[in-house]
Amino acid sequence: MYENTADILQAAEQYGTPVYLYDEGMIVKKCGEAPNMPSAFGLTVRYAMKANSNRTLLPIIDRQGLYIDASSLIEIRRAYIAGIDPKRIMLSTQEVPENEDRAELERFILNGLTYNVCSLRQLYLIGDFVQKHGLDLSVRIHPGIGSGADPFIWWQNIDLEMAILEEYFPYAETVNFGGGLKEARMPDELPVDIAELGEYAKQRIRQFKQRTGRKLRMEIEPGAYIVANEGYAITRVIDKKERGRTD
Ligand SMILES: Cc1ncc(COP(=O)(O)O)c(C=O)c1O
Repeated sequence: MYENTADILQAAEQYGTPVYLYDEGMIVKKCGEAPNMPSAFGLTVRYAMKANSNRTLLPIIDRQGLYIDASSLIEIRRAYIAGIDPKRIMLSTQEVPENEDRAELERFILNGLTYNVCSLRQLYLIGDFVQKHGLDLSVRIHPGIGSGADPFIWWQNIDLEMAILEEYFPYAETVNFGGGLKEARMPDELPVDIAELGEYAKQRIRQFKQRTGRKLRMEIEPGAYIVANEGYAITRVIDKKERGRTD
């Protein structure tokens, strides 16, 4: 909760309303928390920019060392214009761009962007190109249960994803547990305990190493967790109406 009303009034005065105000100090603090999540053999944190793709925020988040999870070519462009290296961006999208957009996506992939295949159709559409250039692909598998803020669901997801990876991906080097890290938005809510979640994932990744000899790097993709409570829409009350009879 931002306490400094003088700043809010000054922003409203200077820029008019409505205006969005962001708390840079808090965003930096949140970006610093996520990489401290316990992990067995390294952790990459990707900011899921669909949570807020404001071009002023992206370089701040980039400077804190977070990578980017983008969900469309438009988001990739926004991140790129904000100065983010394509090598730090992964795309998880519902549709493979076509024609000129496809050519642009290919340029980004050749410059280091990771494509996260989200369906078999996408694998057919993008697989040949990636193979031709000897590049790696990321694969997104739905483990069968929904993502959720509930830590129990997260644990289940970790177990299911690790089992799928062990059975079908003998060469995978990274396991990505996605987003959905809960932030407390209402006074009666509690945020996720990232230390507890990380500890669980760390143990599973260690056990995997004991069984298979393989060291998996871990990735997470928090979006809302980084920015949900760090932005304010400043508006003015322009009218007031009474409801119901007052006599
Ligand atoms: C692929 C992917 N990663 C990360 C996220 C981030 O979710 P959240 O903002 O709830 O952390 C989403 C949300 O839709 C997603 O689809």
